[in-house]
Amino acid sequence: MQWTILNVSIPVNDLKKSKEFYEMILGPPKNEGNLYQSLFENEENVFFGKQGFGLRLFKPKPDLVVSNYIQSRRSYISILVDNINSIKGNLDRENIHYIFNNSGNQNSFKSLLVQEPSLNLVQFIENPNSFNDNINGWDMGLEWGIHHMNLESLDVRKSMNFFCNLIGMTEGKWVAPVNKGDFSIDPTELAILPLSDNNRGLHVIKPDDGFGWRNNFAHNPSIGGHPAFTVKDLSALKNRLDKEKILYSDAKVYAMPGFHQIYLYDINANMLEINQAV
Ligand SMILES: [Fe+2]
Repeated sequence: MQWTILNVSIPVNDLKKSKEFYEMILGPPKNEGNLYQSLFENEENVFFGKQGFGLRLFKPKPDLVVSNYIQSRRSYISILVDNINSIKGNLDRENIHYIFNNSGNQNSFKSLLVQEPSLNLVQFIENPNSFNDNINGWDMGLEWGIHHMNLESLDVRKSMNFFCNLIGMTEGKWVAPVNKGDFSIDPTELAILPLSDNNRGLHVIKPDDGFGWRNNFAHNPSIGGHPAFTVKDLSALKNRLDKEKILYSDAKVYAMPGFHQIYLYDINANMLEINQAV
């Protein structure tokens, strides 16, 4: 099965203030036609990216107001796939509940919302025509792209079984740098569904309470999941964060060869990773 990261949805409290924050991080939204907007229409949102690839800020509603839909209090990922019916069949076979949308409208896309075994919400969207395009989540022709989405899992092997055997993705091997930080790459504690040979894709990690402390970070990137965005000029971003007095952990190159990583919270306490190829 072909798949790729379409976008990341991040829950926010104040859309206007959060938009300003993300503009400071990534630059102006430059939203050029979100093909998939109708799939998210029940929430107020702001989109950064191109043709549906990118980042979506949304304001969740009170849970009891939502019916026939599921919200996430955490950042969640939407994944583009070439065949959603096979996923649906596998979930049916395992009696796993999901929400399937297929309005039958010519211009709409089939989509499926499901929680993986550690209850992270994942959305799948089918568009078999989008894999040959020049545009993708990590190269939208903008100043930034999506590098990976990290999911916290209380049972990494159960989550990986879900993604590999029910969704149809393929597990890869974590590529660690020479001066690796103090964290485990045992596949029961950290696993990867790669989209490249440089750790791009979906990361699944077991929460490690000492991760931040052992690596001398102010943040613990193993808890709560996070999206990671690649930018072209991380030192300019660090200057802007310094100016705004925003706390960040400068991890340098410690988990992925060739990537200088930093961690910070957005103004809604959502964990973010920003990295630059070095
Ligand atoms: Fe990460």
